[in-house]
Amino acid sequence: MTARSTIQAFFDPSTWTVSYVVADAATGAAAVIDPVLDYDFKSGHTDTSSADRVLAYLEERKLKVEWILETHAHADHLSAARYLQERVGGRIGIGEHIREVQATFKKLYNLEREFLPDGSQFDHLFRDGQVFRIGGIEATAMLVPGHTPADMAYLIEDSVFVGDTLFMPDVGTARADFPGGDAAVLYRSIRRLLALPPQTRIYVCHDYPPAGREAQWETTVAEQRAKNVHVRDGIAEEAFVAMRKARDATLEVPTLILPSIQVNVRAGQMPPADDNGVAYLRIPINALPRGGAAKAAK
Ligand SMILES: [Fe+2]
Repeated sequence: MTARSTIQAFFDPSTWTVSYVVADAATGAAAVIDPVLDYDFKSGHTDTSSADRVLAYLEERKLKVEWILETHAHADHLSAARYLQERVGGRIGIGEHIREVQATFKKLYNLEREFLPDGSQFDHLFRDGQVFRIGGIEATAMLVPGHTPADMAYLIEDSVFVGDTLFMPDVGTARADFPGGDAAVLYRSIRRLLALPPQTRIYVCHDYPPAGREAQWETTVAEQRAKNVHVRDGIAEEAFVAMRKARDATLEVPTLILPSIQVNVRAGQMPPADDNGVAYLRIPINALPRGGAAKAAK
């Protein structure tokens, strides 16, 4: 069967994030995946330039948003899910294990009592294997934990949006040292993705291009199995886990982790405003592990 979906990528060079719009060409129904809300750490200002590019595309193509899909609670950018929903509708979906992530971070940030770690901030919680539709297209949610306990990949026709699991073959894989992360679990999730048919197109959530190459985000199962520097065929779980742990120990904490996660566990909503009408982000002092010394970006 020929694919009927169209896929448009949006690359955000300041956080190296790739967002996507997947549309059903026949009905005009669409899903937005991992939209970015720009955030200037220095001034505490948000900016909607990245999300507005997505909106302009939706409008130009007259697409009707049915879903805003998050692969996980991102630690490197704020989600524009709520901003987009307010403008174009759609249901915000994420993996059901977001509840565990919410519980962990409710504690870390000491969030207000009214914030419930029950996933109710989202419109839909996907479970592993759940089938859903974007217009006339069938899609399947796949639980792929390891980077976080809640990561989902979304398989839409012959394309899979893998979030932070695999990156481009020359970059490798996502880190597994955030709270609830686990390198062995990540390895098993990746092997599951690589068990999809070899021609399956893989769309990554980030690219950190090595010097001399442009950012890219599309690859295939076959290419990853042949070339991924961390998990190509022949690399066993034990070797992967040892590599991932050694590497993660050298990685810096992402610049926006503290602002990002407290917004993203609320489905892209800012915390409730104080009595002066201003919303504040919380920075716990000496609570998060420091991270490694190297200045790697992933
Ligand atoms: Fe991530």
